Amino acid sequence: MTHRIGYLVGSLSSTSINRTLSTALIRLAPDTLEFTEIPIGDLPLYSPDFDGDYPAAGRALKDAIEASDGILIVSPEYNRSIPGALKNAIDWGSRPWGQNSFARKPTGIIGASIGQIGTAVMQASMRSVLSFLDAPQLNSPEAYIHFDADVFGDDGEVRDESTAGFLRHYMEEYCAFVERVLAVNAPGHI
Ligand code: FNR
Repeated sequence: MTHRIGYLVGSLSSTSINRTLSTALIRLAPDTLEFTEIPIGDLPLYSPDFDGDYPAAGRALKDAIEASDGILIVSPEYNRSIPGALKNAIDWGSRPWGQNSFARKPTGIIGASIGQIGTAVMQASMRSVLSFLDAPQLNSPEAYIHFDADVFGDDGEVRDESTAGFLRHYMEEYCAFVERVLAVNAPGHI
């Protein structure tokens, strides 16, 4: 059975290493996952003033999240936290109050950094946000990617077999996790 995965890239950079990582992950993922990017770059800054009448970009984001069986967040770490553009998108998806689009969506968090800690602090912060939003998260394996331009081709090719094997394993575990959460969410499951 095919599962629809909506993925968010937390960087607006035209040369984003996290976009490259997302391309690699899609190439290595099980065939049963079908990926659609959920764009975040055209969203205005969220304000509760929009809650009565969401603009098209905010509505489109919520619709895309709700149409997804699972969410995959691929993001850099900015100043030891979540990039502003991505946090803004999550705020849009979480509102209006009572209409949180992330609730019960199985979610994976992964990121690449040029630094050695590979987005670990951003991911810890993101887990706190997603827990508040009632989004179940893949806990293991964790994936903190130190980006090496010699390993990752722009087209998503991963030239080092150990890295490719790890990312393939991550996506297999993510797929199994999505299936488990979907089974629990299914009507009739106690
Ligand atoms: C960074 N970078 C960075 N790296 C890191 O490991 N921890 C951090 O806290 C930060 N902070 C940070 C803040 C800002 C504003 C920028 C622009 C960059 C470096 C970061 O890892 C590097 O720029 C990556 O290339 C960002 O990922 P994308 O945008 O290329 O996907």
